Amino acid sequence: MNNFIFSNPTKIIFGKGVENEVGNEAKKYRKVLLHYGGGSIKSSGLYERVVQSLQAAGVAFVELGGVKPNPLLSLVHEGIQLCRAQAVDLILAVGGGSVIDSAKAIAMGVPYQGDVWDFFTNKGRPQEALPVGVVLTIAAAGSESSDSTVITRSEGLLKRPCSSALIYPRFAFLNPELTYTLPPYQTACGVADITAHIIERYFTKTPQVDLTDRLCEATLKTMVNFGPRAVANPTDYEAHAEVMWAGCIAHNNLLGCGRVSDWGSHMIEHEISGIYDVAHGAGLAVVIPAWMKHVYREDLNRFVQFAVRVWGVDYAFGDSERIALEGIERLKQFYHAIGLPVSLHEMNVADDRLEEMARKATQNGSLGNFKKLYEQDVLKILQLAL
Ligand code: NZQ
Ligand code: ZN
Repeated sequence: MNNFIFSNPTKIIFGKGVENEVGNEAKKYRKVLLHYGGGSIKSSGLYERVVQSLQAAGVAFVELGGVKPNPLLSLVHEGIQLCRAQAVDLILAVGGGSVIDSAKAIAMGVPYQGDVWDFFTNKGRPQEALPVGVVLTIAAAGSESSDSTVITRSEGLLKRPCSSALIYPRFAFLNPELTYTLPPYQTACGVADITAHIIERYFTKTPQVDLTDRLCEATLKTMVNFGPRAVANPTDYEAHAEVMWAGCIAHNNLLGCGRVSDWGSHMIEHEISGIYDVAHGAGLAVVIPAWMKHVYREDLNRFVQFAVRVWGVDYAFGDSERIALEGIERLKQFYHAIGLPVSLHEMNVADDRLEEMARKATQNGSLGNFKKLYEQDVLKILQLAL
């Protein structure tokens, strides 16, 4: 186990009806930017409840909607100008990962003299940021208690991440009932993203990480048990509660303590969703099994452990390689059974830009840690994903 610091400062307020308390949490700030997406919070009635809660607590606010899935830098620039003009001192993201990520980028950009995109291209590091609060409407990205944001710049179709301890949300309201209005496909995309966040941490070369292995396996098994139930039953509170809490745990880095994580599959997926604007979770359902097939020989025992402990593959199934491959196959079947694509073709992504994606993904060096991935590896993985 490696040395580590674990500090997750996000206050989680979890359960039925909790979003009605958002005004009380926000009232210590002078002025709030209410930030949201394309309209789901208005049709669900959540917008009204949040506004009422802010007004009841006497919180002044301005608003900026219109965040798109795979959130755009152009709206982030707009938000920065608005926050400066209105002297906003809290950004309240009401929505999913895209809204939260847009809020985080605005938060870093307001006090910065240059272009906030600098932080996504390693040309600068944020020194300060406005606080961000969250009312979560989809269990998926884990951005509600992560230190990361992922933004897309239309010019060049570049989707890039930025991490900083400054952008952990101060508080996050998690009411599983708010996810009832999601289309089942979007719930399934969230399930895939959550499992991917665990898998990116699970496949490590760091020796002797038994506790975090078992925490990862437990969280994955919760997703295997409750993910399909949540997709099939939009109003099953228990299933959505398990998935929402798992989504938060999967990405608040508890599961990454003391071990080197991978993140190669995420970087490859960002190239796909940057160009084709597919849902991040769907892209991961395609990339992760292909990545696994490319790398499993790096540490066969770890893949055997995954197959046996997570998927219940019996040791009598065959030799180590067959057991490992069966684990990968069961993950793929799991994604397929909840309605996700498991190949690029199923996602309507043709084979004509694979080289471009492989080149862009590796232009600043290799990806991943379990196996270092160079341009040819990424190309191979994308070909395996076809
Ligand atoms: O825009 P609205 O109208 O709200 O609709 C959204 C959007 O179309 C809809 N939706 C959300 N909650 C809903 C709902 N529809 C009905 N009822 C509800 N309760 O769902 C669609 C997708 O929303 P989005 O926010 O894009 O989903 P998600 O949470 O999966 O976020 C994906 C983004 O997060 C990034 C991804 O790359 C992607 O851009 N990630 C961020 C991470 C982080 N900051 O730590 C880590 C992740 O690995 C990921 O990369
Ligand atoms: Zn993700």
